[in-house]
Amino acid sequence: MPDRFSPIGVFDSGVGGISVLGELRRTLPREDFLYFGDNLHAPYGTKPEQEVLGYVRGVMDYLIAQDVKAVVIACNTATSVAAATLRAELDLPIIGMEPALKPAAEQRRGGQILVLATPMTLRLPKFQALYQRYGEGAHPLPCPGLMDLVEQQAFDQARRYLQEHFLAYDLSQVDAVVLGCTHYVFLRPILQEILPPHVLILDGNAGTARQLARVLEQRDLLSDRGGSLRLETSGDPAQIRPLMETLLARA
Ligand code: DGL
Repeated sequence: MPDRFSPIGVFDSGVGGISVLGELRRTLPREDFLYFGDNLHAPYGTKPEQEVLGYVRGVMDYLIAQDVKAVVIACNTATSVAAATLRAELDLPIIGMEPALKPAAEQRRGGQILVLATPMTLRLPKFQALYQRYGEGAHPLPCPGLMDLVEQQAFDQARRYLQEHFLAYDLSQVDAVVLGCTHYVFLRPILQEILPPHVLILDGNAGTARQLARVLEQRDLLSDRGGSLRLETSGDPAQIRPLMETLLARA
């Protein structure tokens, strides 16, 4: 049985969740973390929903076998597909991601909000409900293939990809860009270059870290010792682990 000194499991389809992990470790420095990238099955966001649910279940089984005390689904796509189902089945605290459309709506000055995410995140009911509530002026912008460019560290191609996708918009009329996929957080420096300076760039990482801290406190699961980190992948560790370490230093 896990106790408050057990690790917190954090997972994504690949290295995108490392951007969340950086924030989690800053917020909760005395926790032990186990990060798992499901690189073998990435990307999730362009595959059928049932297939992704199967992959997520596999990762959850693995993390539970590692005796984690809580799980952060550091992936918007996996959260949209699986979080509600898993919460109904498991007693373990499960914290998910949500595109930062609410804070974007609160800071909107009458202009547009572009929501960048995987096709699956934007299609599923979780985002549709958020959009119903906070979607005034918001434009969902599915970005198939963009997470792969982050996995490959192909930043020049990512810059061109974004520039092409923004061509359809008059950026002077855009108030905010929401990064609704944890991989895209690593594209923030490129976005800052190509977007006009008035455009807010928002992600959900800090909100997720606060939510994890709240839930652990409520359940009396906060640790006051620790701080270790294990990085794991279903892909090739020789290739993926150094990439995770590089990105963690940047996160
Ligand atoms: N980081 C995942 C997300 O936040 C990437 C999605 C994918 O695997 O396609 O949605």
